[in-house]
Amino acid sequence: MIKTIEWTENGVVMIDQRLLPSEEVYNTYATVDEVADAIVTMVIRGAPAIGVAAAMGIALGVNNLVDDNNLQSDFEKICRIMHSTRPTAKNLFWAIARMERLFKNLAGRTPFVSLKEELINEAIAMHQEDIEINRRIGKYGQEVLSSGDTVLTHCNAGALATAGYGTALGVIRGAVEAGKAINVFADETRPFLQGSRLTAWELAHDDIPCTLITDNMAGWFMKQGKINCVIVGADRIAPNGDAANKIGTYSVAVLAKAHNIPFYVAAPISTFDPDISTGEEIPIEQRDTREVTEINGRIMAPGNIRIENPAFDVTPASLISGIITEYGIARVPFPESIADFFRLAEKQ
Ligand code: MRU
Repeated sequence: MIKTIEWTENGVVMIDQRLLPSEEVYNTYATVDEVADAIVTMVIRGAPAIGVAAAMGIALGVNNLVDDNNLQSDFEKICRIMHSTRPTAKNLFWAIARMERLFKNLAGRTPFVSLKEELINEAIAMHQEDIEINRRIGKYGQEVLSSGDTVLTHCNAGALATAGYGTALGVIRGAVEAGKAINVFADETRPFLQGSRLTAWELAHDDIPCTLITDNMAGWFMKQGKINCVIVGADRIAPNGDAANKIGTYSVAVLAKAHNIPFYVAAPISTFDPDISTGEEIPIEQRDTREVTEINGRIMAPGNIRIENPAFDVTPASLISGIITEYGIARVPFPESIADFFRLAEKQ
């Protein structure tokens, strides 16, 4: 299995996703600042993966403290560093909140050395749980696919975007493991090219047939009947079913609707945001405009042009056929279905 992130005695080991597919380089990140920088600079990306990285970064930050004289303020500072990395993926804030809860329960009641161990164990547990959750998403999700289907996906919601196995690609892996013949069309996903650099690489690694297309080709292949289903991941989902994902996802959803092709979102419950009502409240990260104007350091636009580079968009629930989670597939009416899953998650 592709290794995205791992806790080791020397620090957090991550594959540098910026170098894929040409180089497979694993680096060790030994401080909370180094882990935060890895999230900001996209060494690691994808909502569940950055959640796990944040938890490990916090565990690392506390583990590196030499004493507990200012434990509360040191811990708050460590969490603030993680908070300010990227704004859209709910999993990041979900993971920080889980570490904060554990800290609150233990600080002052547990020896400092045990507190450090507990935080490390929690981060490692979150890593393992994420893989199990993705396998459950894969099991539920594979039911929407039939042998011979061709699935379009956008961005990378695979092993690289999670602790392992993937969400959208987890559904595809689940179908393949169930013996179904599945073809994948991967959108290249401008401007950061997660589709061509990461999804195509991951699927080739697992021998799952994949055709790479540029984003603007999707509609034409749909029109020709070459795509049966769309499955994407998500960075944050509102309780009404509106889902934020990589920029371009909304366009794919509109195209799928126009061609009567089912459009699924696959994501764990930790991606859902119970504190908002609709997708309008989801913060959208704006990234460096050079991602749009430069390719491999070469300028592709005039210097005096205005540029926009939102990293995510929001697909309204009305365009979504179902949201595949570890508790099953949420369907219309989404608010009821999602509320049921929240209740199931709370019981665990
Ligand atoms: O900017 P990125 O690469 O972090 O964006 C990633 C995505 O949009 C993924 O589709 C999403 O996080 C789901 S990953 C299982």
